Amino acid sequence: MSKNFVVAIDGTAGSGKSTTARGAAKELGWFYLDTGAMYRALTYKVIRDKIDYKNMEALQEMLTQTTIEFKFEPANNNYVMFLDGKNVNHQIRGAEIDSMVSHIAAIPQIRAMMVKAQQKAAQGKNTICEGRDIASVVFPAADLKFYLDCNLDERANRRKKDNHPKSTFHEIRNNLIERDYIDSNRESSPLVRVADAIYLDTTNLAIEEEIKFVVDMIKLRLLTEKK
Ligand code: DC
Repeated sequence: MSKNFVVAIDGTAGSGKSTTARGAAKELGWFYLDTGAMYRALTYKVIRDKIDYKNMEALQEMLTQTTIEFKFEPANNNYVMFLDGKNVNHQIRGAEIDSMVSHIAAIPQIRAMMVKAQQKAAQGKNTICEGRDIASVVFPAADLKFYLDCNLDERANRRKKDNHPKSTFHEIRNNLIERDYIDSNRESSPLVRVADAIYLDTTNLAIEEEIKFVVDMIKLRLLTEKK
């Protein structure tokens, strides 16, 4: 393969994007770019440092003092995100971050900085990138695009099992509704299903099936690319 291959995966909150993208990237030995983790990391910093994010000067100052990098961790056989040199992947998955992240991710200045960082991070690597605006804004020329969705109750059930044993089913379900609404209706690069994305409903699929579907489609695309 001569050029780098980029796969874009977008979709609703909790639709299985991260698990599928991470699993497919692991199987192919490719770079997994979790853009949601970047918005979560900034949200974590805003909360931790009590940044008045509605004050553009304070926000700008925070952004100039922030680095987000991805480093390969052999123990995980994958890339891990670092915020200002620290691994915060555990801290960014809690309910407090869930309830605030869509508000932070809607700020145009933040999006502009993150999109640049995402494009830079993927340079020179075969990449599977996952988020909300990947096929529409970050990598509009991606080689393959997917849009994942899943029944709302099933998404809430999965979240409860995986991340949030302390939150109730209804709290999680309401948070998913709210995040999908904000993510899809914000002015700056909202979640959209682009016309050339392959649609995958994961409601009745096991994780292995989702990963296999994406990997098979990528392999097929690589085969036709070579001809
Ligand atoms: O995929 P996730 O749940 O980790 O994403 C967290 C939030 O970040 C999500 O509610 C919307 C936002 N996000 C975004 O606006 N654009 C992206 N490319 C990825 C995530």
